[in-house]
Amino acid sequence: MTDIVLVAGAGGVGKTTISAGIGVCAARSGKRTLVLTVDPARRLATALGLDSLDNMAHPNPELGLLWAAMLDASASWEAIAHRHAPPEVADRLVTNPFFEAVATRFPAGASYAAGEEMAEEVESGHWDMVVVDTPPSHGGIEFLNAPGQMKSFVGGRVLRILTGGRIPGRNTLFDRAAKPALRLLDTVLGGELLEDIGDFLFDLRHTYDGIARRSQSIIHHLEHASMVLVTTTDAAPLAEAAKFVDQSPGNTRTPIVTFNRSLPESWVAPRETVIDPKLAFNLKRWGAEAEYQRDIRREWRATHSGPIVNLAWRASTPNELPALESLARPVWAALEMGR
Ligand SMILES: Nc1ncnc2c1ncn2[C@@H]1O[C@H](COP(=O)(O)OP(=O)(O)OP(=O)(O)O)[C@@H](O)[C@H]1O
Ligand SMILES: [Mg+2]
Repeated sequence: MTDIVLVAGAGGVGKTTISAGIGVCAARSGKRTLVLTVDPARRLATALGLDSLDNMAHPNPELGLLWAAMLDASASWEAIAHRHAPPEVADRLVTNPFFEAVATRFPAGASYAAGEEMAEEVESGHWDMVVVDTPPSHGGIEFLNAPGQMKSFVGGRVLRILTGGRIPGRNTLFDRAAKPALRLLDTVLGGELLEDIGDFLFDLRHTYDGIARRSQSIIHHLEHASMVLVTTTDAAPLAEAAKFVDQSPGNTRTPIVTFNRSLPESWVAPRETVIDPKLAFNLKRWGAEAEYQRDIRREWRATHSGPIVNLAWRASTPNELPALESLARPVWAALEMGR
């Protein structure tokens, strides 16, 4: 069976870095591991063995069991169209500008695509572990909600009303003469635009059954996934983390809350007496920041259940395999304990 680790959190907190680190730890422990990563910085991409700009899985040149692939919403949606629609419909869909917009502009579209990619890889049987770096949107909660949203969208009332109860003949689609609202839209938007939208929705209908089925399997995988929720002690990411916990569907697992870029608690009250006044002043300021961070973590612990992990603020950017591994070790230990 493939274990899934989902890494969520607000923008810029360290999701991609920590996903890579978890991947290194997993591979080092002998697991065939795939990291599905979103937009890694150049040096991190190189460390992962991702030098080309595609969404294929690539093996790591230094660590044979570690593979990585870039999540690319456009490419994933093309694959979704080809997977779930007849070939000629899929060809039409992928060149339709509305399709591109759904794929790349709607947060739920990107999240759903990442979910399909995850499900494909998990069900391929190739991996002992798949680590998913979630696309940036609402601190990752979108990723958990997207399959359900997509399922109700494709089976939903609005689309059924617009495109008919079953897959209709082309001439029954958007019966303008019969529907006053559409007649009005026609006047406002211009007939051609409406026709384009109509063609798009009609073609999209072919993917409904496949997407509805797949959404169900993504939801199932998410229920079994381990969650790593990354945050810092800053107010905005912390608020997103709290939202993630509050709004997570009840049947998902309690996340390992990971406070990244933490200052050591030993800085709160430094023991050595420093004579140099400038240095003493600086140490006091860092001490105050370390104390603030410690209090924020305590407050979190007092109001939330579940494991907490602290990751130190590294002096240099962790983007080589050894640095990634040592950064993510405590998260890996918590994941091992949770199994
Ligand atoms: N513990 C750490 N110590 C020092 N630097 C860190 C640490 N964790 C992450 N960083 C650095 O912080 C920056 C942001 O990290 P990263 O790209 O992993 O965040 P992200 O959550 O994936 O961001 P985005 O939401 O934009 O995708 C990077 O430059 C990364 O190297
Ligand atoms: Mg990232």
